[in-house]
Amino acid sequence: MSIANAKEIMIEAAKKGYAVGAFNVTDLIQFEAVIDAAVETKSPVIVQTSVKPSQFYGADVLVAIYRTLAQKAPVPVVLHLDHCTDIDYCKKCADAGYTNIMIDASKQPFEENIRQTKEVVDYCHNVGDISVEGELGTVGGVEDQIKVAEDEAQLANPQQSVEFVERTGVDIFAPAIGTAHGVYKTKNPKIDFDRLATINKMLNGGGIKTPLVVHGGTGLPEDYIKKLLAAGGAKFNVSTELKHTLIDTKYEYITAHRDEYDPGKIDKVVREATKKAVMHWMEMVESVGKA
Ligand code: 13P
Repeated sequence: MSIANAKEIMIEAAKKGYAVGAFNVTDLIQFEAVIDAAVETKSPVIVQTSVKPSQFYGADVLVAIYRTLAQKAPVPVVLHLDHCTDIDYCKKCADAGYTNIMIDASKQPFEENIRQTKEVVDYCHNVGDISVEGELGTVGGVEDQIKVAEDEAQLANPQQSVEFVERTGVDIFAPAIGTAHGVYKTKNPKIDFDRLATINKMLNGGGIKTPLVVHGGTGLPEDYIKKLLAAGGAKFNVSTELKHTLIDTKYEYITAHRDEYDPGKIDKVVREATKKAVMHWMEMVESVGKA
């Protein structure tokens, strides 16, 4: 059985200087493709669902798919709930069998972020072997990326990061460093690599305790990914790229085969294209062969 939580595989990654890819999926084909890629490259992997798809299918259905697929996979597989702002839904997914939960109270004032995050941490640790991700600062959409990257106040403050991690007991930590969700509007987005390195040193300098998460993977240039790896990024989140892969692949296939009515063929090309995209990420974060 290859059920794992994010903390254990990320500590291993951070110690050895690679990262674990974390891929947002919205359907079964993407779910299978991400695990196919992990198996083929012998990579540990995190499958993520946002709250909307989780509610659409039902947490119990997604957990059943997860357990079935992970059980057959000879690599560690995590099921992570991404960016959940609702404490009750975090708890529901923990009860259902997600192995990593992200409570995202980053829009709240600092003290309230701590209170909400700690409540989810305490709950998840009590339920069982479930790790929790918390976030500090603003990881917004790409529309705001430049503004956020240039505004110190919206990025994670290193001192506050240490206080946040200590007081919440969070297992893995996502500090805002200027990355954003979506496709970056500029080729060279401004990212505060030094801030990530400083936070990593303060939290993990004496041995890896709280591995760090990089949000907004889509569109990051490869040299940025290497710098973020060196600065302590141990989980890279990728969502938009897989959505584009799914929709563009379906569109192109259907356009070229307008008279064909065989959904299985569409699924097959989407699964292949998604697997290829995920494998490329696994190479970039250097997780290949690590499972
Ligand atoms: P992208 O959509 O930019 O890949 O970001 C994904 C993410 O950070 C999910 O939490």
